[in-house]
Amino acid sequence: MLNRLNHIALVVPNLSAAITTYQETLKAEVSPPFVEEEHGVRGAFIALENTKIELLDPLDERSPLCGFLKRTPGGGIHHICYEVSDILAARDHLLSQGARVLGDGTPKKGAHGKPVLFLHPQDFFGTLIELEEV
Ligand code: CO
Repeated sequence: MLNRLNHIALVVPNLSAAITTYQETLKAEVSPPFVEEEHGVRGAFIALENTKIELLDPLDERSPLCGFLKRTPGGGIHHICYEVSDILAARDHLLSQGARVLGDGTPKKGAHGKPVLFLHPQDFFGTLIELEEV
């Protein structure tokens, strides 16, 4: 069911500062920043040869990332994203296995404009999983 690793997402306290660090200290290529109103986040992607890193910070104080930054103010790994070829089939399989899909179970449009779902971290050893249909 799982195909490639699409990206690893890092929550950072300040997106523009993190972009500068990645560009200047790590000499990485960073995409222009984007806003995802629906998820309450701002972000940017770093393209690596074999995967991507997603930098995220909260869009405002209602963002779900605010709780994360309260617990870990310096930032940290937020989720990993696996590619699936059929997100509805993946969801139905996961639900049949007793796994919890976050939200109402309807895929939302993710950062790449493709449908995504998030899975409950307690069902997967403490890691928040994003599935993206590619
Ligand atoms: Co993501």
